[in-house]
Amino acid sequence: MKIMMKKTVSCLMAIIIMAVCIGGTPALAEDAVSSATVKVDHFPVVEKHEDAKVLVAYFSVNDTTRAIALTLADALAADVFEIIPEVPYTEEDLNYNDSSTRATVEQRDTAARPAISALPESLEQYNTILLGYPFWWGKAPRIMETFLESIDVGGKTIIPFCTSASSPAGASADDLKKMTDDTTTWMDVKRFDNGSDAQAIREWAETLKLGEKMKLYINDTAVSVDWEDSESVAALRELVREEPLSVQMSMYGGFEQVGSLGSKLPRNDSQTTTEAGDIVLYSGNQIVIFYGSNSWSYTRLGRITDKSAVELADMLGNGDVVVTLSMD
Ligand SMILES: Cc1cc2nc3c(=O)[nH]c(=O)nc-3n(C[C@H](O)[C@H](O)[C@H](O)COP(=O)(O)O)c2cc1C
Repeated sequence: MKIMMKKTVSCLMAIIIMAVCIGGTPALAEDAVSSATVKVDHFPVVEKHEDAKVLVAYFSVNDTTRAIALTLADALAADVFEIIPEVPYTEEDLNYNDSSTRATVEQRDTAARPAISALPESLEQYNTILLGYPFWWGKAPRIMETFLESIDVGGKTIIPFCTSASSPAGASADDLKKMTDDTTTWMDVKRFDNGSDAQAIREWAETLKLGEKMKLYINDTAVSVDWEDSESVAALRELVREEPLSVQMSMYGGFEQVGSLGSKLPRNDSQTTTEAGDIVLYSGNQIVIFYGSNSWSYTRLGRITDKSAVELADMLGNGDVVVTLSMD
């Protein structure tokens, strides 16, 4: 393993970054000289967005993960939160050639929870968190576990990313996943290597399709949907992110079409009286679209907004249809 050790980030840098973090005041311009090993020649200025749904939260000692985090936040118009240790890591703390140094000892100790200097004020507005960390001895630094133990990410999607000198991301996010319950949706961890440049980082950001709405087609007709902001819809997006999902639907009861998604989604059923255009999850694994009304225990997924009840009855009430969900 070839590891490049870099100098510890200065206090000044930490203060500047704090200023662009959520809960912080106005963003400051910065053309910092970075000790990062990625090819990002300046840290983008990341403004706080009133309506951002995406947060990039990261820990970085030598700027590599920071450069990627800020580039991602810039590309995604996301907010940023830096996880800053209460006791900063010194160069000696990071000396992996000595098995008694702080970082190495912490990584061996599954119970180590290095303290964080401040936590986000609130995560309520975000539905997706990109979580960045440097790869330390096969794992995420223990401070990432402190972070997840201190916040509530129920119902959110977490997209982990890491940087390393040469190791693949492997199972480095596995201990982090164990910190959350099954209402949190985790995506596969993405590793950025030393050669990554701003263009490559932005291209990956685009593949996440975070700003894009999930599309729904009834046979070949696209319909507009107002999707719920919920863990069920987040999981559905994740299901169709890589490739579209076509569901063979069947008419039922003279008021709905129902079909199996082939997977279970998180559900939050409640007694619901539906109307034409409502889209719900039934029994955790079936999607139902109404052209009439029914009362049952469902999880709401969304509502078709551009078709009248008459148009919906015409589209859905004249034989079985195929419904396709897609991010493209
Ligand atoms: C304690 C420690 C352990 C590390 N272990 C590995 C490793 O196992 N494999 C690897 O490729 N890089 C390893 N690295 C290198 C870091 O993952 C890499 O330099 C990372 O990009 C640093 O991120 P940062 O600049 O955001 O702090 C290690 C670094 C430290 C300090």
